[in-house]
Amino acid sequence: MSDKTSDIELRLLLEAIFRKYHYDFRGYSMASIKRRMAQAKNHFSCRSYSQLQERVLHEPELLPQLLSFLTVQVSEMFRDASYFKAIREKVVPHLRTYPSLKIWIAGCSNGEELYSLVILFREEGLEDRTMFYATDINPEALRRAEAGIYDLDRIALFTANHQRSGGKSSLSNYYTAAYGAASFDKSLRDHVVFSDHSLVSDTVFAEMHFISCRNVLIYFDKDFQNRAIGLFRESLARKGFLGLGSKESLRFSDHTSAFLDFSQEDRIYQKRGEL
Ligand SMILES: C[S@@+](CC[C@H](N)C(=O)[O-])C[C@H]1O[C@@H](n2cnc3c(N)ncnc32)[C@H](O)[C@@H]1O
Repeated sequence: MSDKTSDIELRLLLEAIFRKYHYDFRGYSMASIKRRMAQAKNHFSCRSYSQLQERVLHEPELLPQLLSFLTVQVSEMFRDASYFKAIREKVVPHLRTYPSLKIWIAGCSNGEELYSLVILFREEGLEDRTMFYATDINPEALRRAEAGIYDLDRIALFTANHQRSGGKSSLSNYYTAAYGAASFDKSLRDHVVFSDHSLVSDTVFAEMHFISCRNVLIYFDKDFQNRAIGLFRESLARKGFLGLGSKESLRFSDHTSAFLDFSQEDRIYQKRGEL
């Protein structure tokens, strides 16, 4: 980190956010946090990060908006269809052997990845024996995930992805369309627990059979990536699965040896049985 004044101020601002609100952005990749904080600074009409720090410390009502600047909510249903195809064809046969299942969708954003997995599990006849834990640090994103309502103009893409992922039914079975929005069936949430949880400062979830954490680690530096992967390692049952985003991998992590490459091209790993 350079000693440019604005970089010093940015560090102090991240420290202040952590001390006051316990949101820890200190180990996010600096290039992206700088870009996002610069947008927030302009949005709040602040001349410097020090001025933004003063406002954030004294006006807690700014926090939700600031969180929306600092977290990226880009997602789609069945994003990278081949990942979901691999889950269906390679992971599901293993999961079928368990009488009950616990699945964690970490960094679930507005819920697109969650609904993709619940639909996949329903199509494979596994939904009734499964509990899904959907977590994120952004409470607004969690509220949208819980609502399950998406713009209708995104549905063509979601439908095409679903088909490419090996979908066994029509996506239109799972939502009703009205006034430009698709509202996903509330029965899809019957087995879902939503919860505010940070991958860098909160505790483990016990005995998960599959953790899907896609496109979150790319925003972390190496230390935070190690913390999150350590958390996954501890949270997984023996031989449990971990799925990452297409640009993420365990290769340079401290925990590589705890996992086997289960499906290298799809970024799916399996925790070793002996651990
Ligand atoms: C780009 S979205 C990924 C959404 C979805 N997983 C996907 O791949 O389409 C990144 C998500 O990670 C969440 N996130 C960022 N930092 C986090 C943290 N420390 N703990 C949990 N979630 C976090 C953000 O709020 C955001 O919803």
